[in-house]
Amino acid sequence: MTVERELFSSRLGFILAAAGSAVGIGNLVGFPVNAAKNGGGAFLLVYALFVILVCLPVMMAEMAIGRKTVKNPVGAYNALSNNSKLWSVAGIFGMLTPFMIAVFYMVITVWIMGYMVMAATGNLDHLASGAAFGEFINSYYVFGAMAIVVAIVGVILLSGVKEGIEKAAKTLMPALFVMLVLLVAFVLTRDNAFAGLRFFLIPDIDKLNPSVINSALSQAFFSLSLGMGILITYGSYIDRRTDIVGSAKLVAITDTGVAFTAGLMMLPAVFSFNPEVNPQELSDSSVSLIFTFLPKIFLALQTSIGYVGASAVAVVFFTLVFFAAITSLVSIIEVPVAYLVDEKCHSRKKALTTLLMTAGILTLFATVSFGMVPFFTEFVHYAGAPKSFFDIIYDVFYDTILPLNGFLLCLFVSYRWRKANLSAELAVGNDKYQGSWIEKYVNLSLSTFIPVILLAIFLNTVAQKFFAYNLLGL
Ligand code: PFF
Repeated sequence: MTVERELFSSRLGFILAAAGSAVGIGNLVGFPVNAAKNGGGAFLLVYALFVILVCLPVMMAEMAIGRKTVKNPVGAYNALSNNSKLWSVAGIFGMLTPFMIAVFYMVITVWIMGYMVMAATGNLDHLASGAAFGEFINSYYVFGAMAIVVAIVGVILLSGVKEGIEKAAKTLMPALFVMLVLLVAFVLTRDNAFAGLRFFLIPDIDKLNPSVINSALSQAFFSLSLGMGILITYGSYIDRRTDIVGSAKLVAITDTGVAFTAGLMMLPAVFSFNPEVNPQELSDSSVSLIFTFLPKIFLALQTSIGYVGASAVAVVFFTLVFFAAITSLVSIIEVPVAYLVDEKCHSRKKALTTLLMTAGILTLFATVSFGMVPFFTEFVHYAGAPKSFFDIIYDVFYDTILPLNGFLLCLFVSYRWRKANLSAELAVGNDKYQGSWIEKYVNLSLSTFIPVILLAIFLNTVAQKFFAYNLLGL
């Protein structure tokens, strides 16, 4: 039985869904802190250059592969390479990576939901006490929260591309924009807010070293949801009149705009809480920032707006991050769903049941790897330290494989599918593409320096993460 493939109903629907995938925890927390620590305006400039010069061509190529083949990553690599065994490996990476990232992301989304509910039920003071995070992640509440997150994602995905993914993005994304703007407006009226803005915006060129440049590129690549098979899959749901080049630009602008706006919220908040803080002291991990530092900032607001007001601000913040996380989770789980539907002829329902159950079990293992179950807490040992089940998923799939997937994609479009075919696909829906300088740039960059940069980042990350050795001196 062949079921006709559903498409997004409009270009706007596609752009919002892709932006919904791109806008996530990385934008709201990771980006502002990275920018403040690494040279403020100078980091922003490098980041913007990477988005335009490196990420946009990769994004267009992913969307083009999806639309051309009308398939998931595995099917797409197979179709365009005449079922080459070698390239099917790239397709499998493009399907396995999102599945494993989904497990890791689900754990964090569950915690966010827990914090949102606790703030809404009058427990902000508890959240702000140093012990709350450790207690919460090792409590049985996480299992309840997990069931709810799985149910929300399951219902959205079960409703299909138009009625599920697109509708969720059309509802959650505008709500997210409104909440973000409200929070920025509120935070900027606090005392010392401008000290935070200074760290975020004023360029400090001296901070730009190779390691900062590396982290700007990794952040940009990750933030735009590249290398995860997502844009190949979403590309397979757009109709042939849609202009990919223009859509990709809008997705990148939205994602970068949200990340920038999040900086206007996060850093002034940090500085109004403690004017003496030095951004270098902020934790590298988004996780500890969201779950231990921010609740303290929210609680401190009670002196000016009362406990209820402070709790309301916390609820708005956690809801904002929750919405961003849900649209990202939906996009990433759609990749293996599309694989099972296309390649294994599963119904959507059967594919979702299989995947959510498997992902649910792995998420459970990751959830209990913070001390609850010693076997998963000290799961493996590498780079001189014991690592939990959660750590290994994070290190392998989140941090390491993405640039490798990007590298393989560049080689694939340039040397296997071929540049002329990519150009022809990108010209569908955009008459001016062929012959334009954008076309020349995309073809040149994807076949030369972009794969070289991505390979260098991949090799350096492997050396650093797994052998505690810094290959490039970064
Ligand atoms: N662009 C997303 C972010 O910045 O958080 C990256 C992402 C992560 C997308 C996890 C999807 C996902 F499940």
